[in-house]
Amino acid sequence: MKRFVNALVLFAAWGCNADSRRDPGMVYGFDTIKPSANLTWTPCFDDFTCARLELPLDYSNKSIGTTSIAFIKLAGKNASVESPSIIINPGGPGGSGVDLLLSNQAIATQMFGEQYNLVSFDPRGVNNSGPSLDCFSGNPEARMAFNRLHRTGVTNISSTSLEEQYYSSSIYGDWCNDAVENGSPHGYYVTTPAVAHDLLTFIEAEAELAGQPPSDAKLWLYGISYGTVIGSTFASMFPDRVGRMILDGVMNADQYYDNDWRDNVDQMDEAMEKFSSFCHSAGPESCSFWGPTPANITARMDGIIQKLQNHPVPVSEVQSRGLPTLVTYSDLKALFVNTLYVPIASFPVMADILHQLEQGNVTALVGMFDGSGIASDAGFVIQCADSYRRNRLTTIEEFKSYVEYTVSKSKYIGDIYPIFVDRILCRSFRPQLPDSMLAQGPINGLGRPTSFPILFASNTIDPITPLKSARKMSSQFPGSVLLLQEAVGVSYRISITQSSQARV
Ligand SMILES: *[C@@H]1O[C@H](CO)[C@@H](O)[C@H](O)[C@H]1NC(C)=O
Ligand SMILES: *[C@@H]1O[C@H](CO)[C@@H](O)[C@H](O)[C@H]1NC(C)=O
Ligand SMILES: *[C@@H]1O[C@H](CO)[C@@H](O)[C@H](O)[C@H]1NC(C)=O
Ligand SMILES: *[C@@H]1O[C@H](CO)[C@@H](O)[C@H](O)[C@H]1NC(C)=O
Ligand SMILES: *[C@@H]1O[C@H](CO)[C@@H](O)[C@H](O)[C@H]1NC(C)=O
Ligand SMILES: *[C@@H]1O[C@H](CO)[C@@H](O)[C@H](O)[C@H]1NC(C)=O
Ligand SMILES: *[C@@H]1O[C@H](CO)[C@@H](O)[C@H](O)[C@H]1NC(C)=O
Repeated sequence: MKRFVNALVLFAAWGCNADSRRDPGMVYGFDTIKPSANLTWTPCFDDFTCARLELPLDYSNKSIGTTSIAFIKLAGKNASVESPSIIINPGGPGGSGVDLLLSNQAIATQMFGEQYNLVSFDPRGVNNSGPSLDCFSGNPEARMAFNRLHRTGVTNISSTSLEEQYYSSSIYGDWCNDAVENGSPHGYYVTTPAVAHDLLTFIEAEAELAGQPPSDAKLWLYGISYGTVIGSTFASMFPDRVGRMILDGVMNADQYYDNDWRDNVDQMDEAMEKFSSFCHSAGPESCSFWGPTPANITARMDGIIQKLQNHPVPVSEVQSRGLPTLVTYSDLKALFVNTLYVPIASFPVMADILHQLEQGNVTALVGMFDGSGIASDAGFVIQCADSYRRNRLTTIEEFKSYVEYTVSKSKYIGDIYPIFVDRILCRSFRPQLPDSMLAQGPINGLGRPTSFPILFASNTIDPITPLKSARKMSSQFPGSVLLLQEAVGVSYRISITQSSQARV
C-alpha cells in the first residue's frame, strides 16, 4: 500500500527533525509524564504540551480503579488561559488523536486560527492511553495464523469463502476474551460513552486550572469520522455541556453501536463514477486511463475487474529471486477502497495503475490487499465492547444478508467492504460491562436542543461517511444544522493516517 509507506516515511523524517532539536526538559513521548488527577501540562514534542489525566475506569463505580488518558495541546499564539480549547476527535475507532494533531499541526492551526488552543487525545485503549489490550498477548505467530485463516480477501470470492470468514472470525474474540481474563481485567473498559465522559472530566479539569467553575465548563469539539460518534454520544449524554460542536464526515452513531456499518456503502459507486467523468474531463494528457467518453472509461474498468476475477495473475519473481505472489481480484478491490478514502488525490494514481493493468502490467497491485491484517487490537476492542449488547452481526444468516446488502449497494466495493471493516470479528466478544459504560438507547438530543446547536458537515458525495448518515444524525439533534459542500470525498481536511486496519 503505497500511501501507508509514504505516511511512515514522513513520520520518520519528522522524528529525525525532532531529535536534532532535542532540548532538556522537553519530552517526546508520554512514558515519562506522571499521570495526575489534576491537569498538569508538560512541554512536549517541541511545540506542544502533554498531559496524562488520571480518571476512573468506571464512572459509576470508582472503586474499580483508574486509568490514564494522553492529551496533547497546541497553544494558540493569540490564546490566553481562558481561551477555549478546541478538542479534535480522531477517526477510528482506534485512531490516535495525539498522532493526528502532531502530524496536522499546520493545517489545524490554519483551520481554526491562533485565538484557540487545539487539543487532542488518544481515546481509551489507544496508543498512549490505558487500558490497553493485546489480544494475542505477545504471540505474533498466533496472530499471523489467525490472519491467514480469516483475511482471505473478497468475501464471496468462492463457494466457501463467506463461510470461512464467518467461522474463523470467532477465533479473534476467543483470544481477546482470554487476554482479558488472564491479565488485562479492564481491557474492555474502553467504550465510547466512557470516552465521552472522559471529555467531560477533561473540560472540568481545564476549567479548574483556569480558575473557573467546573460545572459551567462546556465542550468545544471538532470531530471527524468515528470522532463524530464520540461527539454525538457526548451530546446525547451531556446536552447542556455543548459549547461548540462541529461533526464533520458523519457516521450514523446508532449503526455504529449496532455493529451494522450499512450506510457507509451508500455513495461508494457514485464516487467511483466520478472517477470516469473526472478522468474524461481531464483529457488524455492528464489522465492516463482516458477514454473518448466516461462510459468508455467505466466499461474498460469493468473489463479489468471481470478479467481479474476469473484470471488471477501469477508473479513468479524468478528473475529477481524475490518471493512469488499472485495478483487477484481482491487486490484490485483493495485499490478501489483505498482510493475512496482520498478520492481526488488518489484518482490520478488509480488511473496510472488501471492504465498499466490494461497493458497487462500488474506490478502496482502486488500486495494491495493486505492479508497480514490486524496489527493493533484497539479499534476492534472498542467497537466490539461498544456493540456487544446490540450487535446485529452475529449469526451466519445476518452475515450473509449484510454481504448481500453491501454487494447490492456497491458493485465496486460491496464485496470487499465486509472484510475491509471486518465487523464480523465482534461476534464472539464477551465483555462483562456495567450499564454505565454502554450506549443503551438511540443516540439523540433527547427531544430538546443542546446548549448550543451542533453543526454537522458533509460533502454531497462522501464515499466513506455518506451524506445519508449526516442527514440522519442531524435529524436526531433538534436545533442542529447540516452544512453541505458540493464535492466528492470526505469533507474534513485533517487526514486520518491509513493503517492496514480500516478506520473511518
Ligand atoms: C504513539 O504515540 C507516540 C508518541 O507518544 C508516537 O511516536 C507513535 O508513533 C504512536 N504510535 C501509534 C501506533 O500511533
Ligand atoms: C489536585 O486535585 C485535588 C483533588 O483531586 C484537589 O483537592 C487539589 O486541590 C488539586 N491540587 C491542585 C494543585 O490543583
Ligand atoms: C464496584 O466494584 C467493586 C470492585 O470490583 C465491586 O466489588 C462492587 O460490587 C462494585 N459495586 C457496584 C455497586 O457495582
Ligand atoms: C491577535 O489578536 C489581535 C487582537 O485581537 C489581532 O489584532 C491579531 O490579528 C491577532 N493575531 C493573530 C495571529 O491571530
Ligand atoms: C473505448 O474507446 C476506445 C477508443 O475509441 C476503443 O478502441 C475501445 O474499444 C472502447 N472500449 C470500450 C470498452 O468501449
Ligand atoms: C509496470 O508498472 C510499474 C508500477 O506501476 C512500473 O514501475 C513499471 O515501469 C511498469 N513496467 C512496464 C514494463 O511498463
Ligand atoms: C455469493 O455468490 C454467489 C454466486 O455468485 C451468489 O449466488 C450469492 O448470492 C452470493 N452471496 C452473497 C451473500 O452475496
